[in-house]
Amino acid sequence: MERAAVIVAIDGPSGTGKSSTSKAVATQLGLRYLDTGAQYRAITWWMVNNGIDMDDPSAIAAVAGKPEIVSGTDPSAPSITVDGTDVAGPIRTQEVTSKVSAVSAVPEVRTRITGLQRSIAAGAENGIVVEGRDIGTTVLPDADLKIFLTASPEARAARRNGELKGADVNATREALLKRDAADSSRKTSPLAKADDAVEVDTSDLTLQQVIECVVTLVEEKRAGK
Ligand code: DC
Repeated sequence: MERAAVIVAIDGPSGTGKSSTSKAVATQLGLRYLDTGAQYRAITWWMVNNGIDMDDPSAIAAVAGKPEIVSGTDPSAPSITVDGTDVAGPIRTQEVTSKVSAVSAVPEVRTRITGLQRSIAAGAENGIVVEGRDIGTTVLPDADLKIFLTASPEARAARRNGELKGADVNATREALLKRDAADSSRKTSPLAKADDAVEVDTSDLTLQQVIECVVTLVEEKRAGK
């Protein structure tokens, strides 16, 4: 029997294991995968590269439609390009990370990126796992399953430090909390848990446990439980 496409929204702040979980769940279930944070980082990278004034939301809004952003949705090899340039590495720099909240708060940027996200999700034949901050609330409010991942600031900072290698854990924690505060307090589609999302606290869970938990939730959904 053919299975209907399943749309899974995974939201939450940084350091909760969203990307690792989303990629693994998509791989295990044969779904596509979309990292929406990478799209906001990509448009931010383009703005930095083009000397756009980050303190001027109207300057950001005026060029929000300019860069062509293409996301590859294979969970084993996700990719992102801006005007044909591979930016998977450059979008992870400290400079982009420190500016992405300002860019992603601009409504014209969100409208543009949300449109891309919806068309990618609509084109995913077997279904897709979409990770971000506002997927369950705004981008795909009709998703079949919505997950909201949380974790204590300490657990999140420790995980990010593992990725950053050698960074100061207190500085990482402060930077994470600052970005969360900006992402949660912006006017247009802030970081928020959808009313019908399942909340999973990953503080004391291994990555494997989180993956198993989400896979089970998707399978239950598919079985109509
Ligand atoms: O997941 P990430 O840390 O790569 O995301 C980078 C930034 O992009 C994050 O600070 C807020 C923004 N973002 C957003 O506003 N909405 C999303 N759906 C995903 C990310």
